[in-house]
Amino acid sequence: MGHTVALIGGGGIGRVHARHWQALPDVEVVAILDPRGHEARVAGDPPHFSDWDTMLGQTKPDIIDICTPTSLHREYIERAAASGKATFCEKPLARTLADCDAIVDVVRRSGIPFMVGHVVRFFPEFAAAKRLVDAGGIGSPVAVRVARMGGMPGQGRPENWYGSYAGSGGVILDLMLHDFDWLRWCFGDVQRVFAKGLYQQLEFEGQLDYALVTLRFKSGVVGHLTGSWAHPSGLKTSFEIAGDGGMIDQDSTRTTTLNVGRRNNIEEGDLPKVVIPRNPLAPLDDPYYQELGSFLEAIRNGTPSPVTVEDGREAVRIALAALESIETGKVVTL
Ligand SMILES: NC(=O)c1ccc[n+]([C@@H]2O[C@H](COP(=O)([O-])OP(=O)(O)OC[C@H]3O[C@@H](n4cnc5c(N)ncnc54)[C@H](O)[C@@H]3O)[C@@H](O)[C@H]2O)c1
Repeated sequence: MGHTVALIGGGGIGRVHARHWQALPDVEVVAILDPRGHEARVAGDPPHFSDWDTMLGQTKPDIIDICTPTSLHREYIERAAASGKATFCEKPLARTLADCDAIVDVVRRSGIPFMVGHVVRFFPEFAAAKRLVDAGGIGSPVAVRVARMGGMPGQGRPENWYGSYAGSGGVILDLMLHDFDWLRWCFGDVQRVFAKGLYQQLEFEGQLDYALVTLRFKSGVVGHLTGSWAHPSGLKTSFEIAGDGGMIDQDSTRTTTLNVGRRNNIEEGDLPKVVIPRNPLAPLDDPYYQELGSFLEAIRNGTPSPVTVEDGREAVRIALAALESIETGKVVTL
């Protein structure tokens, strides 16, 4: 059975989604709702709308895909739920915990299929590391280090909502949130959070653009994360997971394999290496294609959402605890 999609917000990530929806089998993007009108052009060039009810009435989409600035996610999720539509929403679920709670409530009550765009779970290296940890490949995990560094997003756009801390939550809520979700997926719930942050002095005064966050998981694992919107060199990520039986090491700038070492390893051939598909990824390996495809499959098969509304809320809760820790200088217990 074919599915139709209405895209809400056709900016940076909306354009990426449209391209992958169009590539998925039996899917058509039938509407785009964006106040920028025809300036917000996306793949497939679907009809533009500026009014929700008109869009819904005329196109009757099966799926609503929300790619608006974060502070608007709640409003559109509520509208989609009231219409009983399967809904995909970009991360972060919302800017505040009050909005997250309202979203969890409305999604549960409406029973709509719902997924949050925690795409890092679909990046081959991050997904492979999770599989290895789950399979006991490094024994019991003890410590994990993650870095996610990039430039300030949204620069040069007419309306840069990223530059408003009240709107985006800065580097912690917008960028490091990716890793909070991935780590929670790998190691379970977080118990304590401590963070330090720097504020950019230049264009976006008061904007948090570099942060260190430490997490203590209920399982005992300790995480050390750095995130930056101050790196001029383009996005790069790295991580290292240490367990009592071995280590996993990944650095996006120097390797397309996941290096895995076992303690007391003597035989070179015994070192497992997980090969990560090369950049640029083949279209079907693209994490956004995989992510949207996994939601489609859940809708078509009536199976649980790959990333639930509760997962979305928990990632935001960790981010907000980190922001609180920076403000107070204290450890925050969840
Ligand atoms: N998963 C990822 O890798 C990823 C990457 C980038 C952004 N994001 C998230 O996606 C969301 C959008 O980010 P972006 O970079 O695309 O932002 P953007 O500023 O590039 O695009 C936002 C779009 O929303 C439109 N918009 C504004 N108000 C609207 C309204 N009331 N109704 C409908 N559309 C409206 C804007 O005109 C614009 O076209 C954010 O929540 C962001 O955190 C996720």
